[in-house]
Amino acid sequence: MKKRILTGDRPTGQLHLGHYVGSLKNRLELQHKHDQFVMIADAQALTDNYDHPEKIRTNIFEVMLDYLAVGIDPQKTVIFIQSQIPQLFELTFYFLNMVTYNRLKHNPTVKAEMQQKGMEENVTAGFMIYPVSQAADITLFGGELIPVGMDQLPILEQTNEIVRRFNSIYQTDVLKEAKPLFSDCPRLPGADGKAKMSKSLGNALTFSASSKDIEEVVKKMYTDPHHLKVQDPGKIEGNVVFTYLDAFDPDKNRVQDLKDHYQRGGLGDMTLKRHLMQVLEEFIAPLREKREQLKQEPKRVLDILHEGTLRAKKEGEKRLEEIKEAMKISYRFQNFTAFR
Ligand code: TRP
Repeated sequence: MKKRILTGDRPTGQLHLGHYVGSLKNRLELQHKHDQFVMIADAQALTDNYDHPEKIRTNIFEVMLDYLAVGIDPQKTVIFIQSQIPQLFELTFYFLNMVTYNRLKHNPTVKAEMQQKGMEENVTAGFMIYPVSQAADITLFGGELIPVGMDQLPILEQTNEIVRRFNSIYQTDVLKEAKPLFSDCPRLPGADGKAKMSKSLGNALTFSASSKDIEEVVKKMYTDPHHLKVQDPGKIEGNVVFTYLDAFDPDKNRVQDLKDHYQRGGLGDMTLKRHLMQVLEEFIAPLREKREQLKQEPKRVLDILHEGTLRAKKEGEKRLEEIKEAMKISYRFQNFTAFR
């Protein structure tokens, strides 16, 4: 059975290999079997970048290049811009009544972000409620399966709480609960092996990374600190080079051979890293080229986004009417019995 897939990304920078492993890879497969909507979440990105709207605006185009270069197919996936769908904001306002202020304060994802961004003291109301707006994103489009990274789980839980509360208060089943779809690969660590791969931490490889960027990042990668001499046996647990090989080397047997060799001893870190550099170059080179090519045709790229946004808008209008119907606030002015 065809399912509705809804997911999105904040346009705060180019997408990178972490996004690929965490969610894009799933979307590439899902688009062939299901009915997929992908949202560029510019309004959500503004909740902590409201003072830099130009950053968000330019990155909408960058994310679009990333989607198309990596293989999101606009014939199969509707790509659209969040801020252009007014129904999302209307639904958010109604949803805000379905959640307590106290509950919002305890969302672990929001708390972690607040800490990371140093906004504890001055957190805005807009940032605090973004999980509610994300619940509107998901439910307005009837999202059933949500391909996202692990960090989004608390937001999905919040969404489903709102769905249950709404359905029970209005005695309806117009809203559907959403299921997260996580990647089968473990989260990609940053080159340093500690934090996650992230643009702001400077340890990310984007789809436009040059061979030199790849070399630099791989050279810095954390391996086994006790593997000092080539002939020493090495550890593969926590060894970032192997995590990346597991994620990107298409030849699984070769990866297994390398693991055996490394554990036995006799495989040097630099030889291993050279191999990973080549694997990553083979993965990124076609994306880098495709991206360059698309960059030369901005009109084509933006037409795709425009068309997707129009389609999403139609869907949003229809769905919001159904939802307001369930809330008994879908007034029809030509029929005054609605108010009695
Ligand atoms: N919060 C998501 C992120 O930071 C982006 C997002 C916005 C999203 N709306 C969504 C993801 C709806 C899934 C579904 O990556």
